[in-house]
Amino acid sequence: MSNSTIGIGLLGMGVVGTEVARNLVLKAGRLAQQAGVTLELKGVVVRDVSRIRDSAVPARLITADARAVVDDPGVQVVVELMGGLRPAYDYIRMALSQGKHVVTANKEALATYGSELVGLAEERQVSLLYEASAGGGIPIIGPLHKDLLANETSSIHAIINGTTNYILTRMSQEGTSFQEALVQAQELGYAEADPTNDIEGTDAAYKLAILSSLAFHTPVTGGDVYREGISRLAAVDFRYAGELGYAIKLLAIARREDSALSLRVHPCLVPQEHLLAKVDGVFNAIEVEGDLVGRVVFHGRGAGPKPTASAVLGDILEAARSIAEGRKPPRRAALDNGLRMLPIHDLVTQYYFRVTVADRAGVLAKIATVLGDLNISIASVIQKASDEASQTAELVIMTHPAREAHVREAVGRMRGLDEMVEVSNVLRVEGRV
Ligand SMILES: NC(=O)c1ccc[n+]([C@@H]2O[C@H](COP(=O)([O-])OP(=O)(O)OC[C@H]3O[C@@H](n4cnc5c(N)ncnc54)[C@H](OP(=O)(O)O)[C@@H]3O)[C@@H](O)[C@H]2O)c1
Repeated sequence: MSNSTIGIGLLGMGVVGTEVARNLVLKAGRLAQQAGVTLELKGVVVRDVSRIRDSAVPARLITADARAVVDDPGVQVVVELMGGLRPAYDYIRMALSQGKHVVTANKEALATYGSELVGLAEERQVSLLYEASAGGGIPIIGPLHKDLLANETSSIHAIINGTTNYILTRMSQEGTSFQEALVQAQELGYAEADPTNDIEGTDAAYKLAILSSLAFHTPVTGGDVYREGISRLAAVDFRYAGELGYAIKLLAIARREDSALSLRVHPCLVPQEHLLAKVDGVFNAIEVEGDLVGRVVFHGRGAGPKPTASAVLGDILEAARSIAEGRKPPRRAALDNGLRMLPIHDLVTQYYFRVTVADRAGVLAKIATVLGDLNISIASVIQKASDEASQTAELVIMTHPAREAHVREAVGRMRGLDEMVEVSNVLRVEGRV
């Protein structure tokens, strides 16, 4: 095959793959102009070949034989859109080993085996491009690779899971419960039948690992990211947070603390005036802070067939151009900062406690003693609601910055107080965003 035509092998034709395949066929002329070379779809891999597929994609190209497509000598760029760790990772590896360029949107494979795959691509002098793996259609991998490279990054604060942001927005704006909001998200196709990876923060942790490796020049895997999901949140937490001037968001946070990196995904109180507090519904936003650039925010659609295809097609064009021009892909910046991962127990931040106590004199003093003994200083206490029948009261306590290990110890000690009915929720407050 001459360099005036580049063969594309597509692994997966689901939500994203279908949109990518349609564009490769229907916009072939325009894409050829952009790439300076014709892109030819040579094979499309699915699990179930009997299903009726998009009519724009020639049926003769569709196969269940992924190996045949990866091994096809006419395929120079393998586009992996199957998702999941295996067999996707094996096919990416196979393609790179054969000296083929790879484009993927697979956050799980990259957050688990990213260093190895990047190393293999460099060894074989081919591109491994993954713009769609974090932030969907939002350009963020490219800017971290190139435009922001001269910066020392101090932090990333991101809303990078549209499903959970949609659920939290409904809970906040309509006072619905977590379960109701989840069902609405599923009905609208924003949440999968099994939403565990989204609501437990796993998906966001994979994406944070990918972004942090690039931003902090240190290899990070999904397992390095501490995570808590959103299922413990109650409608009342949104109300109280709102009264205190905060929104509640599932944030993915990476912060450099000297020679360590704090990496976490958890629900968090965010000041209402901050940009991230205003990112609602299925939208995503990623704020990066660097020593030269200051704070920059990337905002847009983090998922969906068209935005994700936009990122995948951009990567395909980049790979095709480098092949057509006979260029070697640029070497990636070294991941040699050697930052250690800060355990969650060493985190210092502000906290919000919602507790239910017996409505008796002296209870507040006892709570203050527990907190004071552990160096946790109270910023404010508000009695939110008293229940005459049960003689209980709900309190919201905001603290000054405290150490996570001390906060966990305090929760245990508070639970031991006779007057404590329930420690209903403890949330971190991200005051510095
Ligand atoms: N959906 C989004 O909005 C979005 C956004 C950003 C990134 N991504 C990422 O993009 C990738 C694709 O996501 P998607 O939503 O398009 O997934 P999807 O709708 O589940 O599609 C997966 C496709 O891969 C095929 N496939 C899966 N396992 C296979 C196997 N073992 N052998 C052969 N074919 C197999 C499926 O075949 P069948 O059609 O026969 O089932 C299907 O065509 C994932 O890595 C995902 O994380 C998705």
